[in-house]
Amino acid sequence: EQTASFFEAVGGEETFRRLVHRFYEGVVEDPLLRPLYPEDDLDGAEERLRMFLIQYWGGPNDYSQQRGHPRLRMRHAPFVIGEPERDAWLKHMGDAVQSLDLPPEQEKQLWDYLVYAAHSMINA
Ligand code: HEM
Repeated sequence: EQTASFFEAVGGEETFRRLVHRFYEGVVEDPLLRPLYPEDDLDGAEERLRMFLIQYWGGPNDYSQQRGHPRLRMRHAPFVIGEPERDAWLKHMGDAVQSLDLPPEQEKQLWDYLVYAAHSMINA
């Protein structure tokens, strides 16, 4: 029996494209977060986060094909991530999630994961 993935249920690649693009529109304007991200490769950062989230929710696995095992805590080790950084990240991600206008159930599922993942990324 085949059940549709969350990736498909929320609208596939286009939805994640909108989500992550909106998120980085917030990051660009954020004096706390912007310096953490690559100065001249924000498009690359956008693509990496998009590929990761697509794969996480059951879409194509381009992320792992290009980047290998996610090991997200290890990949974030170079950046100081305390509560202020986490809260700023979640602020922009919250705006981005809301901009999708998903049905409440799906919005909650997506948001609960992002909150949990952001809390687990704290390293300072
Ligand atoms: C990469 C910051 C939370 C997923 C990055 C990068 C920074 C960063 C500065 C490097 C950008 C790049 O060149 O790719 C933060 C901060 C967070 C946070 C301040 C606050 C809690 C998260 C969470 C997730 C996530 C919760 C997953 C749900 C990723 C992914 C990459 C990345 C997939 C690319 C990893 C790679 O393949 O190199 N993050 N991040 N981040 N972040 Fe985060």
